[in-house]
Amino acid sequence: MPVTTVTSLQALKLKGEKITMLTCYDATFAHTASTAGVEVLLVGDSLGMVLQGHDSTLPVSTADMAYHVACVKRGNQGALIVADLPFMANATVEHTLLNSAALMQAGAHMVKVEGAAWLADSIRHLTDRGIPVCAHMGLTPQTVNVMGGYKVQGRLEAQARQMRADAITLEQAGAAMILLECVPAELAEEITHAVKIPVIGIGAGNATDGQVLVLHDMLGLSISGRVPKFVRNFMIGQPDIQSAIQAYVSAVKDTSFPAPEHGFSA
Ligand code: KIV
Repeated sequence: MPVTTVTSLQALKLKGEKITMLTCYDATFAHTASTAGVEVLLVGDSLGMVLQGHDSTLPVSTADMAYHVACVKRGNQGALIVADLPFMANATVEHTLLNSAALMQAGAHMVKVEGAAWLADSIRHLTDRGIPVCAHMGLTPQTVNVMGGYKVQGRLEAQARQMRADAITLEQAGAAMILLECVPAELAEEITHAVKIPVIGIGAGNATDGQVLVLHDMLGLSISGRVPKFVRNFMIGQPDIQSAIQAYVSAVKDTSFPAPEHGFSA
């Protein structure tokens, strides 16, 4: 069973092979997804919505995250486990260090933080202390109340310029990966070329180095019935969940997913 590391992800970017990432919250799905070929399992704070039934990710705690990271670790077969720092867990550098340590000790190999250039200090501190960081930019669901809703980010030229500059700042601060959510495909492509670290997209077109989806979304499961534009239901035409996840891996690898209709323009 191949083991995914920060260096093997970097090698995939260099080779031009797409990286597959999927959210995951328990041992059985960790086993299913990692044996289906998913390289990165994201224990996302989306668990607040899809598992806990909240209407946002804000109620999720670090203890909730650590519990699910530990579950995922037990089922995982070689994927890299990324754990989200939930709302306010990265409010200060000290908070960020303590909460990240808890997630790493629960079994994560990398933490993900939502934000922009203001994260640079925290990212430097974490990286210097042995914790790889994924910087989540663009639509950052923890700041939905500031953004005024779940909206595409970076459509205005000034915003796009800022996002490009922030991505470079965070790479220089030591970020090991960038995740772009709901940004125009052209901007995501520019950022992907501007940095050497892997860039993973969700609603960011198919020029990024890899893709991520929320597990429940790609299995066609939803409480609200609202399906984001960037989602494809991979259960359609598949006999079981393992096959649906394998179909997702194949579609990301051969770049047939995401298709133009799953993306946003400027
Ligand atoms: O929490 C999460 O699942 C995420 C994905 C939407 C990328 O951050």
